[in-house]
Amino acid sequence: MAAKWAPETWRAKPIKQVPEYPDQQALADAEAQLRQFPPLVFAGEARRLKKSLADVAEGKAFLLQGGDCAESFAEFSANNIRDMFRVLLQMAVILTFGAACPVVKVGRMAGQFAKPRSSPVERRNGQELPSYRGDIINGMDYTPEARLPDPQRLVRSYNQSAATLNLLRAFAQGGYADLHKVHSWTLGFVDKSPAGERFRELADRIAESLAFMEACGLTAATAPQIRETDFFTSHEALLLGYEQALTRVDSTTGDWYDCSAHMLWIGDRTRQPDGAHVEFLRGVKNPLGLKCGPSLTTDDLIKLIDTLNPANEAGRITLICRMGADQVEAKLPALIRTVVREGRKVVWSCDPMHGNTVESSTGFKTRAFDRILKEVRGFFAAHLAEGSYAGGVHFEMTGQDVTECIGGAQAIDEHTLATRYNTQCDPRLNASQAIELAFLIAEQLKKERSGMAQRLAAAS
Ligand code: PEP
Ligand code: CO
Repeated sequence: MAAKWAPETWRAKPIKQVPEYPDQQALADAEAQLRQFPPLVFAGEARRLKKSLADVAEGKAFLLQGGDCAESFAEFSANNIRDMFRVLLQMAVILTFGAACPVVKVGRMAGQFAKPRSSPVERRNGQELPSYRGDIINGMDYTPEARLPDPQRLVRSYNQSAATLNLLRAFAQGGYADLHKVHSWTLGFVDKSPAGERFRELADRIAESLAFMEACGLTAATAPQIRETDFFTSHEALLLGYEQALTRVDSTTGDWYDCSAHMLWIGDRTRQPDGAHVEFLRGVKNPLGLKCGPSLTTDDLIKLIDTLNPANEAGRITLICRMGADQVEAKLPALIRTVVREGRKVVWSCDPMHGNTVESSTGFKTRAFDRILKEVRGFFAAHLAEGSYAGGVHFEMTGQDVTECIGGAQAIDEHTLATRYNTQCDPRLNASQAIELAFLIAEQLKKERSGMAQRLAAAS
């Protein structure tokens, strides 16, 4: 029997990645204020996402999750939200059309603020300050004032998340995502790139298909999926005081939901089976992600799955694998084999970003497009070999024309990184790299799905 759970039971467990707030009373006051605020999402929406993810677990759909490494107060604007939403929409259309597969869209948005760090302190020129932990905790400037954790940042993050979510809902349901507008989604700078060219060709084919369907009597009025879409939010549930404050009982089911986002994930640094983060998340009914890095053992994986999903409900757990291009082949098959053998229902998703971060010779934290693609290919290959379904991808990206990742058709190199290197934390794919990658993944997915169809036909 599992021990009794309550929103605060995590507080008695060992915990990692905790900021040192100088004023505990001010922190408690901010959390108390958040408890009074309305939920950001509704339990029913989180259940709908879980149902869509159950389709992914069963091989009937594909998960696309992406967004900033860290959202920031400085970059908060309607244009940035729109541009991120638009790239995700473009990627989703490429995958849906290219692989004839429904795509579940989840943003790392409207709450992705807190960052785990490899060291609690940062040293520069003989000085030592607390590390930057994301705008929800402290500031990025390298000064003692900025780096001091400030509880008022929790409230500001909540407000920014609410405004972001409000706009995302409007974009998803208010006409922006209408497939008839597919041509207008190309961004200025993407339009001129090879990826933009390819997207335009795809948009032409979609427009043609829509005209054909309309002639057959299938219009946006009869099929609302043509003019609106489901878009969900997610972030790493790292700062548990914030998450607890937004955790509420759903009045229709009596269950607890973390209403800060539809989906929450546990990071690779905080997935200790007996730790606070696992304790907190086991008690909320949202769909959950679990980052799986190269140090995760098969024993721990099963222990974690069973703690977080004792009823083996499909759609509850998404395993977000981030092994690194060189380790995916060696590490992933054992995890897949164990999960398949033990009959645990999960969504398998590939995060090809976090295992492939390197420092460029010019001193920038970067990721190479080729390595990202190599990990994606290794992920699909491992699932093909083990007879399971590669069900999703997880990216750090932006709608802006940044130069943070090396390679792709734009051929960004170590020397051009400095041109527009704007990230708050990890290097992100720019819009044109993200679209290019979506086309390459659509090909992988198409192959995977036609293989699946053949196996099913042979078995029947
Ligand atoms: C992240 O997703 O930004 C992250 C920190 O990932 P991981 O926990 O996998 O390192
Ligand atoms: Co990151």
